[in-house]
Amino acid sequence: MIEQNRIPRVSLQSGEKVPAIGLGTFGSDKYGEKEVSEAVYGAVRCGYRLIDCAAVYENEASIGAVLGRLFEEKTVGREDLFITTKVCNDRHREVEKSLRQSLSDLQITYADLFFVHWPFPNYHAPGCDGDSRSADSKPFSVDEFMDTWRQCERMVDLGLARYIGMSNMTIPKLEAVLPLCRIMPAALEMELHPSFQQKELYDYAISRGIQPVGFCPMGSPSRPERDKTADDVADMELPSIAAAAKAHGVHPALICLKWAVQRGQIPIPFSVKPSQYESNLRAVTEDPLTEEEMAAIAADDRNCRLIKGQVFLWPGASDWHALWDEDGTISK
Ligand SMILES: NC(=O)c1ccc[n+]([C@@H]2O[C@H](COP(=O)([O-])OP(=O)(O)OC[C@H]3O[C@@H](n4cnc5c(N)ncnc54)[C@H](OP(=O)(O)O)[C@@H]3O)[C@@H](O)[C@H]2O)c1
Repeated sequence: MIEQNRIPRVSLQSGEKVPAIGLGTFGSDKYGEKEVSEAVYGAVRCGYRLIDCAAVYENEASIGAVLGRLFEEKTVGREDLFITTKVCNDRHREVEKSLRQSLSDLQITYADLFFVHWPFPNYHAPGCDGDSRSADSKPFSVDEFMDTWRQCERMVDLGLARYIGMSNMTIPKLEAVLPLCRIMPAALEMELHPSFQQKELYDYAISRGIQPVGFCPMGSPSRPERDKTADDVADMELPSIAAAAKAHGVHPALICLKWAVQRGQIPIPFSVKPSQYESNLRAVTEDPLTEEEMAAIAADDRNCRLIKGQVFLWPGASDWHALWDEDGTISK
């Protein structure tokens, strides 16, 4: 077990300090809900306090059962944990129902942080093929997104969520919606790993007091086949990562996590293997990277997006690049 006072923390805009690292719970079609929930159990016992959940991962009920066990055994109290969950893409018009379902599955009465998982309401079945498209897919709409966000704000008013956040956003979309928010997002969950640092979006979030939470922090080596392309870069093989791993005598995965925490984002590494999740947490409590190593990793960015989101494309959209507003305007 790693003592809590050794785990770094970051301050949200509210001043509340939260763990600077969490556990991801998306099994990537590779691990079933039993394995993932047992990992949550082991990880909390080992010292993790932030758990990143989502309804679409289809494992919240199993995670809820282990949370119940942890509370019963008095390993932790509810207030010791920081639990995130996310509204499904097909429930943007019934956010309260979605959150209440997640809370009931997770066996908790409030979420610490509730995300809009994707800015598109376009439904696709979990685990579907990368080529699958939903017939009623639409491009991003500020009005529709704000309708979803207003419902999220109400979740805070009702005490069902302590903070709300956005995920998979871009600067043009944030520019359009942030001025309309009554309650600002506390966090932005975004893909962040050494070969995809999203410096502009990261800096944008920080400058507005929005905490970046980084998914795929080690380059998601076990991501589903549908999310793999021939051009993808393996983060753990980047020269700067390999060199630092050698210098510190650790697995490259741990260098990715040290970099993430030292940069300031909250990485949410996934693992069901006790040796991995324990070393992932321990890595950010000891033996930091040097300034030179941090600079070398910063210079090794390859702009390599792994989770392209192609299933969200709408009829007439060119390709997945359209989802990310790469020309600086919201794609239509
Ligand atoms: N908001 C969103 O849209 C979104 C999108 C994607 C992910 N997420 C969240 O982000 C979390 C993390 O992303 P991810 O799971 O895709 O990627 P990741 O955390 O970068 O990669 C996880 C994989 O890395 C390997 N690994 C973990 N620790 C390791 C270690 N110490 N040494 C060597 N290999 C290690 C494991 O592979 P093996 O199992 O093969 O050993 C594990 O399955 C998800 O679980 C989910 O909670 C959110």
